[in-house]
Amino acid sequence: MAVVVSGIRPTGMLHLGNYFGAVKSFLQMQEKHDCFFFIADIHSLTTHPTPENLHSNVKQVLAEHLAMGIDPDKCALFIQSDVPAISELYTYMNMNAYIGELERSVTYKEKKASQPKNINAGLLTYPVLMAVDILVHHAEFVPVGKDQQQHLEMTRQFGNRFNNLYNTDYFKEPQAYSNTGELVKVPGLTGKGKMSKSSGDEDTIVFDQDDKTITKKIMRAKTDTGPTELNQAKSEEIQNLFDLMALVSDTSTISHFDDLYAKAEIRYGDLKKQLAEDVLKFVSPIREKINYYKNDQALLAKVARIGAEKANASAEKTLKEVREIIGFRRFY
Ligand code: ADP
Ligand code: TRP
Repeated sequence: MAVVVSGIRPTGMLHLGNYFGAVKSFLQMQEKHDCFFFIADIHSLTTHPTPENLHSNVKQVLAEHLAMGIDPDKCALFIQSDVPAISELYTYMNMNAYIGELERSVTYKEKKASQPKNINAGLLTYPVLMAVDILVHHAEFVPVGKDQQQHLEMTRQFGNRFNNLYNTDYFKEPQAYSNTGELVKVPGLTGKGKMSKSSGDEDTIVFDQDDKTITKKIMRAKTDTGPTELNQAKSEEIQNLFDLMALVSDTSTISHFDDLYAKAEIRYGDLKKQLAEDVLKFVSPIREKINYYKNDQALLAKVARIGAEKANASAEKTLKEVREIIGFRRFY
């Protein structure tokens, strides 16, 4: 059993890509590892959300993860700001992170370009906070996508630098974790690339949207003019629809439409109608649960409290040991 840490950005309104790309692997990990999954609300302050948005996004993400099967009894599911030791350790770790290396972070450069009016110090030290999230629980594995690999490398660097500075082997090196070795890419509805919020609402199948909205988006998904000869290769947008079908439909349904395509007899309207039906079969029970959890204040409170207790126990132990190593000695 290994210690796994993963942070979830509180952006809210999860889509099918989030589920198959990230949440599904959390579900598998919580069965066999000692997992710390948390909502990174302190990180999200780098974009200056309003207090109302901050809270409602955290609530949405918490309800969504519970609805998708993250089990607070099997893992520590917590909110970053409920663990004060993280902020304290972040202060200490900032003392041995260098401006030059932080400025080389790809995400920092991207953020500088995308929010030129708000280049705050929190953006620069984002990798330090992320390193603390990981090191504070002595994580061995961190499930991260390609975009976060540089942050993980920096985490190892900060941990090793601390070890060298204080002549200790206190922090170990966390490794990237991949469940299957291959990363799932869920395509979007606009015909190009992966499903993503940044490609616009019409690209995504969102769990917390109603049947009509979801069906409408699928019926409007990009298609081509249709196959004109037998066994014609599929265009990207058609392959995308089949790839989505592979996630939610029976194999018999998929081969039925595959055959029609091969015979150049397919009607895309029928394909999309079937896809919409199967997507809704998959999405509806989860959406019902999201609503149920969002409205159960007592349950959310209990979940957050249990998660905070587990995370605080682990983080406070680390903080105490780090303070000792650094040389803080109380006079009283
Ligand atoms: P978005 O691209 O919509 O902004 P995020 O970047 O917030 O999504 O993704 C959160 C998690 O979900 C990440 O771990 C990411 O790798 C995963 N994810 C998002 N979209 C997809 C997708 N289309 N296919 C596979 N995984 C995805
Ligand atoms: N930076 C991650 C992202 O953008 C979120 C995150 C914060 C995280 N702290 C973490 C991920 C610790 C893994 C471990 O998706």
